[in-house]
Amino acid sequence: MDLQLPSNDQVMDAGQATLCDTFQRDFLCCRRIGSLPWKELDQELTLEPPLALCILKKTINHPVCRKYPPSLQYRRLFLSELIKKHERTGAEPLDDLYSALAEVLNSEDPAVCYKSYCLPTGDLVTLSENVAIVSEGTTGLVTWEAALFLAEWAIEHNDIFNNRMILELGSGIGLTGLVICKSCFPKKYTFTDCHQKVLQQLKDNIRLNGFMLEEEHSVTSENPTTLLSVTELDWESVTEQQLLNLDADLVIAADVVYDPEIVTTFTKLLKQLFHYTKAGKKMEILVASTIRSPETYRLFQRTLDDTGLRWQVLPDHKRNIFAYDRNCTVQILKVTLQV
Ligand SMILES: C[S@@+](CC[C@H](N)C(=O)[O-])C[C@H]1O[C@@H](n2cnc3c(N)ncnc32)[C@H](O)[C@@H]1O
Repeated sequence: MDLQLPSNDQVMDAGQATLCDTFQRDFLCCRRIGSLPWKELDQELTLEPPLALCILKKTINHPVCRKYPPSLQYRRLFLSELIKKHERTGAEPLDDLYSALAEVLNSEDPAVCYKSYCLPTGDLVTLSENVAIVSEGTTGLVTWEAALFLAEWAIEHNDIFNNRMILELGSGIGLTGLVICKSCFPKKYTFTDCHQKVLQQLKDNIRLNGFMLEEEHSVTSENPTTLLSVTELDWESVTEQQLLNLDADLVIAADVVYDPEIVTTFTKLLKQLFHYTKAGKKMEILVASTIRSPETYRLFQRTLDDTGLRWQVLPDHKRNIFAYDRNCTVQILKVTLQV
């Protein structure tokens, strides 16, 4: 039976429509299945099918999911849970839910899977991401909480990023930078990382989101878009020439203070960046960190002090935009030179 999808505004109240939107936001970025608003859904689901069908339409059958699907396992778990919830109401099984599940069960596991992050403008940032937290010997192939936190902070502090020459250290696969480029319109954005696989996936993600890299297009005065580039930059082996070539007035980094072993080299690089700033330019550095180990975080702050750098904790932003685990503490430090 081919059920006609309901028009949301005809059959749903505002609360139900918001719930469908929350499912869409959480599903497209593959939020942990257990953290989706199932409890709220329990309260709203009735014998009538529209809500379950609306959620299906906004998730599994959404054009973004069709084009850039989350992992097969994620889609399977999601559909199984949605079907369970619907049937717990005592309602008739819905053919559309079962055909969607059959389609997923009969699909091949794709080589790449995607996560799509909804921006307040309605635009999306879609990333090809790995499923495992560590793969290919790096933490850089997934998006971390501090990246999402810094991206939300940037959206709320657009003026700090607009028209700036931004250098990102340890960019990973690009979430923060792509959100900033789509929302804040910097003059130039340089993504950097040290890992070859990360750099390749980063370039793919930049193109996936409709941007071209600096070397791929010629910018004319009629085309004053942000210049994006990807550069290999290893904090441990950065050369003087590389530092001289960098031209930034705002340096940012997310979730790079996670290992006491890299704190010293990372801090040394921050100090060098001030030293190599082009004459007459004032530079700011923002480092967003998830405080998993207070000891490692304190070590970072002490090392900044010892290196002659000042730091201050910036106030959190107010608006939650992305779906991620907010139980952990994330902080942004603004780092400046001691004078
Ligand atoms: C935890 S991931 C964070 C990625 C991204 N910023 C995010 O928050 O989603 C740490 C990143 O730092 C990069 N990294 C680690 N050591 C590095 C080094 N010595 N030089 C440059 N990048 C490094 C890794 O390749 C990885 O992409």
